[in-house]
This record gives sequence, C-alpha cells and structure tokens, in this order.
Amino acid sequence: MIALENIAKSYSRGDVAIPVLNGVSLEIDSGQFVAIMGPSGSGKSTLLNIIGCLDRMDSGTYRLDDVDIGSTSDDELAVVRNGKLGFVFQLFSLIPRINARRNVELPLVYAGVAAAERRRRAIAALTRVGLQDRADHTAAQLSGGQQQRVAIARALINEPAVTIADEPTGSLDTATSHDIMHLFTELHRLGKTIVMVTHEPEIAAYAQRVIHLRDGVIERDER
Ligand SMILES: Nc1ncnc2c1ncn2[C@@H]1O[C@H](COP(=O)(O)OP(=O)(O)OP(=O)(O)O)[C@@H](O)[C@H]1O
Ligand SMILES: [Mg+2]
Repeated sequence: MIALENIAKSYSRGDVAIPVLNGVSLEIDSGQFVAIMGPSGSGKSTLLNIIGCLDRMDSGTYRLDDVDIGSTSDDELAVVRNGKLGFVFQLFSLIPRINARRNVELPLVYAGVAAAERRRRAIAALTRVGLQDRADHTAAQLSGGQQQRVAIARALINEPAVTIADEPTGSLDTATSHDIMHLFTELHRLGKTIVMVTHEPEIAAYAQRVIHLRDGVIERDER
C-alpha cells in the first residue's frame, strides 16, 4: 500500500539546509495500524505529511497504491488526497462558525457530491462517532473531544483507504483519548490502513506496529 524508499527531506533556515529525514525506508501493508513515535523534532510530522501527500520529499521514492507520488503533479496529488486519504490533526481543523454536519460534508463538496447525498452521509458519519444529536452545533459550541470526533467523522466520510493522524489525542483528556482510539480500532477492524503519530505509549499500544524515529531515521520497528 505505502512504500517509501530512502526518503530524505531538509528545510532551509537562511542559507543552511537542516536535514530532517535522512533516508527513511518503510513499507506499510494495506489494513495495518501503525504508530510513529520519537522525540520532539525527530521528523514524525514531516514524515507523516509526506505519506499524506501534503508535503514533498527532496529525494527517494514513494509509491502509494502503486502510484509514483514523486512524479505526480500537484493537481493529481490533490485527487489522490481527496480520494484515498483522510486526515485527523491535533489542533482542531474544523471551521468554527459552520455546524458540525457542514464541516463533515466538506470533502464531499470538493468531490462534487450532491447536497442531499452529502447531508445523508454526513449524518451517518456523525452517528458513527456518536454525535448525531450535535449535527447542528457550530464547531465553537463543541467540547475539544467532540470537535475531534467531528474531525474523525470528516476524515471518514470519503471512506478513505488510509487515515493519517498527527497526535489525534494530543489535546484531549485520558477518557476521551481512549474513546478516539476505540474509533480508530473499529476502522482498523474494517480493514482500513491507519498511520498515526503519537508520543504517548498507551495510545501507541492500540497500534499493531510501532515505528520509532530518531534524528530522521528509523531507530526501531516493533510489531
Ligand atoms: N516548515 C518548516 N521549516 C523549517 N523547519 C521545519 C519546518 N517544519 C519542520 N521543521 C523542522 O524540522 C524538524 C522536524 O520537525 P517535525 O515537525 O517533523 O518534528 P516532530 O517529530 O513532528 O516533532 P513534535 O513531536 O514536536 O511534533 C524540526 O527541527 C523542525 O524545526
Ligand atoms: Mg509533530
């Protein structure tokens, strides 16, 4: 499903290039639930953003479902993102002033799905995360955990093959974090691929496989 080979990425600060990923090679099978851990600054988000086609590598090859991502145009990448990938981030990325249902519908708006069908699927996705009774609340009227569940409903609405999550429980209390992980576990049971960054071992424990990054290289890969 995901095949990375010798991925390198650096950021320039002034005149100096600061290496962030130093040759990461990794294969993730379809249906795997993978956690990425490592110290702050070790390159976890950078790697996840490359896997999520949100950022490009400097060198190396990345094949996603047999598509060579490195040689894909930005427009084609947007199609891959919308068709195959769902995203959940630590900082709530909902639009605060529109209601939960319309937030969840957004990927379908981009995909050109008709309004009635969007509404039906958004309500179904909100029901799946237990928030059907909050569909008309604006994001600003929801608690942090509820907002994160809306973000998950939005990530799931396209039925993406791969869910990309960067610290999805980073700003939540323990009980809500475990609720969110139960949703991920259910996704995993449905055969979806999940790649999640976390720094909390008890959250990583929900995954089948834990990849440890340090200084931009894979230090350990545990199954
Ligand atoms: N857009 C950018 N421009 C310049 N440097 C960047 C940029 N994004 C990340 N970096 C640098 O790259 C390194 C890795 O960042 P990254 O966000 O991947 O770390 P991380 O492992 O996700 O850390 P954290 O656990 O704190 O989220 C850091 O030193 C960071 O300062
Ligand atoms: Mg990060």
